[in-house]
Amino acid sequence: MSGNDGSGVRRGSAKTRREFLTSAAAVTAAGGMASLLPLGCEQPKSKAGQGALAPTLNDVSGPRSLRAHGAARGLLVGCAVNPDHLDGEPEYARTVAEQASIVVPENAMKWAALRPNPTQYDFRRADDVVVFALSHEQKVRGHNLCWHEAIPAWFAGTVTKENAAQYLTQHIQTVAGRYAGKLHSWDVVNEAIELKDGRPDGLRNSPWLELMGPSYIELAFRTAREADGTALLTYNDYGIELDTQEQIDKRGQVMMLVRRMQARGVPIDAVGIQSHLSAGDAPGAGLIHFIRELRAMNLQVFITEMDVNDRKLPEPVAERDAGVAKTYRDYLTPVLAEPNVTAALTWGITDRYTWLNGLPHASRADGKPERPLPFDYDYNPTPAFFAERDAIDGRTAQALPGADPYAPFHPTQPQRPQFE
Ligand code: G3I
Repeated sequence: MSGNDGSGVRRGSAKTRREFLTSAAAVTAAGGMASLLPLGCEQPKSKAGQGALAPTLNDVSGPRSLRAHGAARGLLVGCAVNPDHLDGEPEYARTVAEQASIVVPENAMKWAALRPNPTQYDFRRADDVVVFALSHEQKVRGHNLCWHEAIPAWFAGTVTKENAAQYLTQHIQTVAGRYAGKLHSWDVVNEAIELKDGRPDGLRNSPWLELMGPSYIELAFRTAREADGTALLTYNDYGIELDTQEQIDKRGQVMMLVRRMQARGVPIDAVGIQSHLSAGDAPGAGLIHFIRELRAMNLQVFITEMDVNDRKLPEPVAERDAGVAKTYRDYLTPVLAEPNVTAALTWGITDRYTWLNGLPHASRADGKPERPLPFDYDYNPTPAFFAERDAIDGRTAQALPGADPYAPFHPTQPQRPQFE
């Protein structure tokens, strides 16, 4: 069978997995897979074992989707999305619709995407994500209202100490106000802690801190609450997952920040743990203790950006997939068992568009594209898919009230709601 040899390097004009399996399903009904494969191709082998059939679409969709398993266990499950692919690629759109009960725009709601100049906003791509999600009964996370990256080029020459509060306030009022009542949550402030910057409070020397001091964080959260009283206001960060000394220290500073916010009555509802992991990472007791501390503070926890880089694993795809899947299983099983963990999103749904393969330099010594997500380049479910679904099934939490486990896929967009 021509196509992706599993490494993400395409050979020949492969059918996408869905096309192949849909026709396979039809042929099986009529008389067997053998008649489907081009001459000389052996039957696809399962990822898990040798000789068994590869998973069929039935194994991963409808009631067997990540979305449906999550709904049965009180967990929103989803991924970051790119509206360009939602529009332009039916396989991508269908996979997102089937697998996610919550989505987050990977880039479309960042300052750089929304703010072409100091006085205008461009919401077209952000609206496309919200429209797609609402038409598939999916919830939407906003990402993000205040960050040290994805700052438009005009910012440095325009925003000053004198007007920074006004720019931040107006941005949040306009953006969060536009989607008020429609979003599940906002990453209000993203990645504000950086120990290397040496501050006693651990805050990052971001443009916002330099312009406004630490008060920018409180202003952002208070303005977001005023603009949208229903979205769950979230502080989101990375490098707080493991029990290395550096991550223990960073996690401690995040906890201190959240405690200072609560002590001042700053509205915050959740903490996002990004979970960009390397194969072999496993959470220690510290992460679970951190999640339970947040629960005692009446805060929810979201796994906001999970992926598992395989750059240190040997080249054979089966070995890489097994190592990535083990990391998904080892990490998510204890984390998703915590009842205040209410959402888990991967940073993308298919290896085809992972940011890890878009970095300026190849991340693997052998130059092979990475395989960090639940679906590979051709939308085959990877062992990580099944590891994530098993971890979801390990939860004892009850089903989400009124949750719709899965909604029909709409290939064309319904009438667009007006956001203004
Ligand atoms: O859209 C422009 C395009 O017009 C232009 O031609 C091109 C030239 O480089 O750049 C395009 O923008 C890129 C954007 O992604 C959209 O593709 C930016 O250069 C690029 O820096 C940006 O990278 C994103 C990065 O955040 C910075 O915003 C990644 O896709 C995205 O996966 C990554 O996601 C972050 C989270 O937001 C926060 N947590 C960490 C995570 C990974 O870094």
